[in-house]
Amino acid sequence: MNPRHTRSSLLVGSLLLIAATGVSCFADSGDGGGAASAPAVPALGRVIPAPASVTPHEVPYRITSATPIRVPGGSRKAREVADYLADVLRPSTGYALPVTADTGADGIRLLLADEADLGTEGYRLESGERAVTITARRPAGLFHGVQTLRQLLPPAVEARTARPGPWTVPGGTVRDAPRYAYRGAMLDVARHFFTVDEVKRYIDQLALYKVNTLHLHLSDDQGWRLAVDSWPDLAAKGGATEVGGGKGGYYTKDQYRELVRYAASRYLEVIPEIDMPGHTNAVLTAYPKLNCDGEAREPYTGTKVGFSSLCVPEEITYDFVDDVIRELAELTPGEVIHIGGDEADATPADEYATFMDRAQEVVNRYGKRVMGWHQLAGARPVDGAVIQYWGYDETGDAEREEVVRAAREGAEVVLSPADRAYLDMQYPEVTDIPYLGLEWAGKVDVRRSYDWDPGAYLDGLPADAVLGIEAPLWTETLSTSTELEVMAFPRLPGLAELGWSPRSTHDWDAYRQRLAAQAPRWDVLGIRYHRSPQVSWPASAE
Ligand code: ACM
Repeated sequence: MNPRHTRSSLLVGSLLLIAATGVSCFADSGDGGGAASAPAVPALGRVIPAPASVTPHEVPYRITSATPIRVPGGSRKAREVADYLADVLRPSTGYALPVTADTGADGIRLLLADEADLGTEGYRLESGERAVTITARRPAGLFHGVQTLRQLLPPAVEARTARPGPWTVPGGTVRDAPRYAYRGAMLDVARHFFTVDEVKRYIDQLALYKVNTLHLHLSDDQGWRLAVDSWPDLAAKGGATEVGGGKGGYYTKDQYRELVRYAASRYLEVIPEIDMPGHTNAVLTAYPKLNCDGEAREPYTGTKVGFSSLCVPEEITYDFVDDVIRELAELTPGEVIHIGGDEADATPADEYATFMDRAQEVVNRYGKRVMGWHQLAGARPVDGAVIQYWGYDETGDAEREEVVRAAREGAEVVLSPADRAYLDMQYPEVTDIPYLGLEWAGKVDVRRSYDWDPGAYLDGLPADAVLGIEAPLWTETLSTSTELEVMAFPRLPGLAELGWSPRSTHDWDAYRQRLAAQAPRWDVLGIRYHRSPQVSWPASAE
């Protein structure tokens, strides 16, 4: 993650607004996109997140049995992106699609080029009669360009068995780069445990929408989910519970490394969170000596918050913090460790800042950058801290002002307003798996989650203090991949778009057309989604 995001020069240049582009010859009307008032989105722009600039022309590229995937230049990482693309395309097309380092003017071409305006994650995709060429400065840009290419192909391309095609990519040029460096999603694996394969499935869904950060909420009152060698009972005992009394679980270090590796292969950085000093009941059941009274706490499988606290005055607390953060830092190639800090209602107010001072010092000492929920702003955030705002419309001014003040003093802010970005908030309608989600921040419909501007959300927050946005998914009520998906889809793609796309592309009517066009892809991928009445879903997805 970059320290401060820089706006790409693409965004200040002339933008071709997707919403204003009007019809192109590929803007067929068969997607059921709906809004009569909105101009049809050209096929080349029918992508989420909306690209920064789309210039269609009339000559498409067609993938055939003779198409090579060319990745000249010998970069191992570029080659891996090409192999990833081949793995997506081969089963459905049935074509060989050989990956080759040979140069050539034909086929699917992935090129690394030192063009400054492509930035660290941007790309250019050019599609025409002989080739579709993705050019980027870095492999991350190639990977994001490949996600655009996937979405430009028919949804059946996602199938794992051969389909008839044709496999046509609309003609023209897409120029694209993200608005924000941090485009995150959080998964709470503490309230309910999710297996390595379930987390990988979510990672793949995030990658399709150019999300680049997976924040894993690894500990809470109901469970501790990572093996720690120096405190083995954290996982052995603290990991044996979850909401509702299920068996819980935890990741061994090798499993966790595999998650980090897999995420990196999809260009996501994993940010681990150990939530402290509250949300620690699982710790306090595993190690009685961490309680001020030395008595073990009972395991907790309910959903209340704010009742547990580490013992701030006792030195053994900081032995625990030091050991856990040291082992976590060793497992974390990324630069950030999240230390929670929210809802510490059982920690005496005067002790909270003392604890957070010491915990932040430990994170920095092990070479990592501190991230915390926005209550950290009311304590003493260290230099370089990232503050994650999770308030909502009813959050008091004083709390918001603390965040703004911390930002003015140098902190960077990730926005996760609970009444827009929390994917576990219920929709206004009952979903077809009933009773999923919570509603303490209100019901959040698809438009509400999409229709806000991270750059203007908190009054007085300097625009360049916004590092990005994150969509958390808390799992008090969710215990399967299908349940995660019903809450994440269709809201996740809109939040991903807020993180990636220039503000000038923001248009609800155009967005809902593009969103509707995603549904057949979700059907092929087996992603269960909520058919919000705000979107005219295509009949094929019925
Ligand atoms: C939170 O929702 N307690 C960060």
